[in-house]
Amino acid sequence: MQEQITDNRPIGMFDSGVGGLTVYKEIKKQMPNEKIIYLGDTEKFPYGSKSKQTIIELTKKNIDFLLKLDVKEIIIACGTATSQALDEVKKIYNIPIEGIIMPTVEYIAEKQNYKNIGIIATRGTIRSNAWENEIKAKRKDINIYNKECPLLAPMAEEGWTENEIARLTIKEYIKGFPKLDALILGCTHYPMFENVIKEYMPDVDIINTGKIIAQCLEKRLHRNKILEPKEDEIYLTDTECNFINVATTILQKNIIIKKAEVDSNEK
Ligand code: DGL
Repeated sequence: MQEQITDNRPIGMFDSGVGGLTVYKEIKKQMPNEKIIYLGDTEKFPYGSKSKQTIIELTKKNIDFLLKLDVKEIIIACGTATSQALDEVKKIYNIPIEGIIMPTVEYIAEKQNYKNIGIIATRGTIRSNAWENEIKAKRKDINIYNKECPLLAPMAEEGWTENEIARLTIKEYIKGFPKLDALILGCTHYPMFENVIKEYMPDVDIINTGKIIAQCLEKRLHRNKILEPKEDEIYLTDTECNFINVATTILQKNIIIKKAEVDSNEK
């Protein structure tokens, strides 16, 4: 009988800010005993308006930081970094690295009833065309409607996700969509707006990438039975921000923040 090997090392995750916690939350639901080290690059937020080259550099720094903490794999809990840097960093690092796009595209490709799909994401993600290219590679019959929503991630960092401003902003961003079967939340900050989006799109499947990634990860690590829960760690590159307030609301628990020095000992 094959021996069960448990890798107790943590999973490393990063985002530009609080958005990746929507992925973190889903992973913890699926695998409560896996330890996670989360890095929020709050000093460099927002990623959505930066160039591809900058995103690649920031992604490498974040991965280097997490590797120093001996993580067993990296989840890029950021749509912008996934769309612009994942292919690049996969060539450089010898560790499993997963982004938010491919697991979701595989999930969508199986949904034969999906003909019209909307994608909302940051400007950088939409301009990269990564979602559309990957979906079309698997399902040419699906019509894709893209919309960049640059105001949503900063609003989410402020915790403005269920107020009147959120309603007006969402309404404005989605007004051009035809009748959709599904709407992909292509930025990890956007599940925080899910309740408001559902008010306007009650019959549309709202796709939260974090839920899909958590299921994929659980399947991949299913032999990794960690028996004791361990304390997660949350690092920020700049701690003078609203992160704690929003994070406490998302995770429904008190959190402790550590300061991350991602620029030291660069590769
Ligand atoms: N949460 C991120 C994403 O999924 C980044 C948002 C931003 O920093 O602009 O794209």
